[in-house]
This record gives sequence, C-alpha cells and structure tokens, in this order.
Amino acid sequence: MNNSKFPNDFLWGGAISANQCEGAYLDDGKKLNVSDVSKGLLSKPKMKWNGARWNPDIGNEIILNHVGNDFYHHYKEDLALMAEMGFKALRTSISWGRIFPNGDESEANEKGLKFYDDLFDEMISLGIEPVITLSHYETPLHLLTEYGGWLNDEMIKFWMKYVVTVFKRYKGKVKYYLTFNEINNLFKIPFAAGGVLDINPKHTEYVNQDLTKADLYQAAHYIAIANAKTVEKLHEIDSSAKIGAMLSLSSLVTYPKTCDPKDVIAAMKFQHQQMFFLDLFCKGIYPGYIKREWKEMGINLKIKSSDLELINKNTVDFIAFSYYKSCVIKDGEVMKTDTGGAYGANNEYIKTYSPEPWKWPVDPIGLRYLCNFLTDHYNLPLFIVENGIGLKESLNGTIVNEDEFRIKYLREHLYQLKEAIADGCNIMGYLYWGPIDIISAGTGVIDKRYGFIYVDMDNNGNGTFKRYKKHQSFNWYKKVIESNGEEL
Ligand code: BG6
Repeated sequence: MNNSKFPNDFLWGGAISANQCEGAYLDDGKKLNVSDVSKGLLSKPKMKWNGARWNPDIGNEIILNHVGNDFYHHYKEDLALMAEMGFKALRTSISWGRIFPNGDESEANEKGLKFYDDLFDEMISLGIEPVITLSHYETPLHLLTEYGGWLNDEMIKFWMKYVVTVFKRYKGKVKYYLTFNEINNLFKIPFAAGGVLDINPKHTEYVNQDLTKADLYQAAHYIAIANAKTVEKLHEIDSSAKIGAMLSLSSLVTYPKTCDPKDVIAAMKFQHQQMFFLDLFCKGIYPGYIKREWKEMGINLKIKSSDLELINKNTVDFIAFSYYKSCVIKDGEVMKTDTGGAYGANNEYIKTYSPEPWKWPVDPIGLRYLCNFLTDHYNLPLFIVENGIGLKESLNGTIVNEDEFRIKYLREHLYQLKEAIADGCNIMGYLYWGPIDIISAGTGVIDKRYGFIYVDMDNNGNGTFKRYKKHQSFNWYKKVIESNGEEL
C-alpha cells in the first residue's frame, strides 16, 4: 500500500523552451540560432557550403520556430492560464541569441535582457517559480559558422560571458537553473543539440558529414568544462540558487530483450551511453567504460589535469531530466533514436501506445525505475522537467476535442512518481512538457500537440494564435495541483 505524499513544496507545473514558443525570431536584436535553420531537429539543417564557409540556406521553407506559438507577444495571457491551473513553476529557456545575438559581442543586448526581466517578473507576480534552461538548442548560429561551436574551446569564454551576465542580472529572481538541455543528444543531433559545426569539411553535401566520435568527445569535454565553470560561478554569484544537469533519460530505461546475459550486457552498454554526462556532471569523473571505449577506438583527447580537477570540484546540485518512453535492446541490433528516446526491439508487455503517427510506447513504470536508478547511482535530488504526450487535436468552433489519453498518460506517470517517492527518491517537482501547444522539436510541426491549452495555428504558421483551454485536461491538472497530487 502506497501512502506516500508529494512534498508540500513540490514544484508542480510545466516546461517549454524559447525556440519552440517565443517566435519573434529576429525581433529586438536577436539573430539566427541553430533551431532557426532546421525544420525540426531530426532533419538536416538548412545550410549550404559556398566553397569557403557554411551559410544559412532557408529558401522558401517554413520554419515554424520563427513564429513559435508567439509566446513573445502572448506570454502574459499564457502565464495567466498557467496560474489558473495553479502552476508553482514554469521551465523555459533563455534564448542565448537574445542576450548575445552573435554570441561573441562584448556588450549584451539590453532589449533581450529586458524581455526576460519582464517575463520573470510576471511569473513571480503570479506565484510561478522560473526554472531556467541556459541553452535549449539555441546556440547562436554565428558561433558555429565562425568558430565551429563546441569543437572549439573558445566557446567556453563566450558561454561564460553569457551565463555570468544572466546570473548577475536575474539574481534573486531565478532560483533554479539548468545548464544544457538534453546534452546527451550531442551524439545524435550534434548541430542543434550539441552546437557543433565542422567548419573545415572534406565533404560538404550536408553539415557535419565528416564528424568523428573523437570530435564529439572533444566537444563534450569543452562542454563539461563550461558546465563546471557555470556551477562554480552561479554558486559564487548567488549562493541561494541551485543548478542542475538536464538530460534526456528515456533511453536509460533500456530493458534487455531476454535474460540472455548478452542482451543484459547490451542493455548495460546502452545505459552507459546515457550515463556519460551524468557521471561527468554529477560525479565529476570520466568513468571506466568511457576510458575503455577511447582506448579501443584509439581516441586521444586534449584534456588537462586542471580541467579534471575543475570538473570534479564543481558538480551539479540536482538532476533534471526528460522521460517519455522506454526501449528494449537485443544484442547485435541497432537502436534508432528520436527526440523522445530510442527504439529497439518490441516490448510485448507494453500494451499502450500513443495514437498514430507517433506511436510512442507508454511505460509509466519506467519512470519509477528511472528515479530509483538515478537515486541509487547519484543520490541527488531529481526534477522531472519533461514528460508528456503529443497528440493530433483539432478545434471545433471554440471547443477542442476531449483529451482522455493525455489524462490517462499523466495520471499513470504521476502514480508511479508517488511510488518512487515511497521508494525514497527525493523528487523536487514535476513539470509537464508543453502545457501549451508548441512547435515540436523533432518534427518542427505544431500539430503534435502536448498542451492543456490549444493554440489556433497550423503547420504553415497560419491561424489566429488564439488560446483555448482543453477543458478536460486543463481542469484535471488543476485539481491534481490543488490537491498536491492526492486526486489523480
Ligand atoms: C525533448 C526536448 O527532446 O523532447 C524538447 O527537450 C522536445 O524540446 C521534446 O519538444 C519532445 O519531442 P518532440 O519532438 O515531440 O517535440
């Protein structure tokens, strides 16, 4: 019998990102960032080699991130609706390029800083705690085309300038920061998730064609240095604020297809891939499995002993993560991936899938497993900052179709979270992904809708942009928060 309760200060709410919501992509001084040149992060960036350098080549493509759901102009209305649901926290990101449009300027862009001042003030006045991602697939494009992004250690300097500016400006307003959104996606989406661009390519059909594993590990090392310095600086500038790592951990919930020890080892190895940044950011170490891989692949990185000391000394305060679905691995089979995690062998025990066309397996127990796994390995507070379900939905007059499926998905995941709390996991909060419809990161469409709030726009960016409550799930989540998770 589970009599556990959510803690009284549990941070209930939702999560969005600047690039998927704000729109206004060139307003008030902002310039292009990595998500402005991709029609969904899983497709190839719209960049062309002109013989000497990479240039954006968007043509007539509709890139919905350019308009987002127009949060930039609607945020007051959106926050009011979230406050009506009782949100205690909202996670969003600061678009780096609003603050430093090219990334390498010496002065910050005041208009950008002011936008986030206003946004955070509005949140705070409504009793909504800002939870701020410093980089959610939003590296200024100029830093990639000029410097190669995180392949170059100069990035550390540009990044530190940005984060120190932010920490000083929002001191006392922002108490929770996350460094790099789902940084473990660096290996699957290097351009957008990693902020990496090979600027001396041999092959130029598409960006990063020649990138090697060694290049990515070197970028990861510079990112780890930046992460450690960021932790150090925040603690120095605002000792009451906390900072977490943010990882995509759906794929940490990898089940072996059978009890064949080979399948078990295959699952363990796949888990190691997800744990690499956790070990680096939470324990401050390069684990043995990575050293073995480097040795076997003949990878020699530029790593100074002072880097290792820095990384070891400045570990994060908590682990923030996304969890959407689990996967199954069979030894020898290749895993495919998307924004929600990985696909491998079929799991015959999972009976529920989200509707077509996405068909994500629904595995709420995986969330309990994940929380326990993280607690056992890292013993840090945990913050679920992404979990949710994208559905095709439509507006009929002023009424949005019923979203029973969303409620079922959420109820079952929250039930398992309660189990994890009973197991002894220290959970800081639960932020539902996409409480208002936003542009899908992977596919770049709006009609993969996650929200409790519907936004009237289509995949071509047309519509009134009016907001409508999805009454069923809106009221249901409101009741969950009101009862502090007692009424699921
Ligand atoms: C995570 C990202 O990978 O998954 C979000 O942090 C993203 O930005 C979410 O939106 C869901 O993926 P998608 O492709 O359905 O938007």
